[in-house]
Amino acid sequence: MKRHVLGQLEDIEDGTIQARDVGGRNVVIARHGDRIFALRDVCPHQGAKLSNGVMSCSRKNARVGEHHVNMDQPVIRCPWHNWEYDLDHGTCLTHPTPLAVAAYRAFVEDGQIIVET
Ligand code: FES
Repeated sequence: MKRHVLGQLEDIEDGTIQARDVGGRNVVIARHGDRIFALRDVCPHQGAKLSNGVMSCSRKNARVGEHHVNMDQPVIRCPWHNWEYDLDHGTCLTHPTPLAVAAYRAFVEDGQIIVET
């Protein structure tokens, strides 16, 4: 496993995502509070760059006109067809077929963003 230092936590504004080259891989980095996430920057559906999407929180439909929002579960929404991927594991939350994008271990150590690939 290779360790990559991607700069300081404050280099990424809270609630935003950035496209990064991590050891030759296209990776989207997301910040949610003091947590950092890293996913492969390619949607497994049709190949959109997830870094062109938006970061949000998970929503589950309840009844018509009603949905539950989980602020503790950040997701990234693909810019092409709005499929959502859990930032912790890369699991697709909006499509019934089991599907996931590669997730890399990412964390903050001494104020620096670390990603392992
Ligand atoms: S390309 Fe991402 S949802 Fe279709």
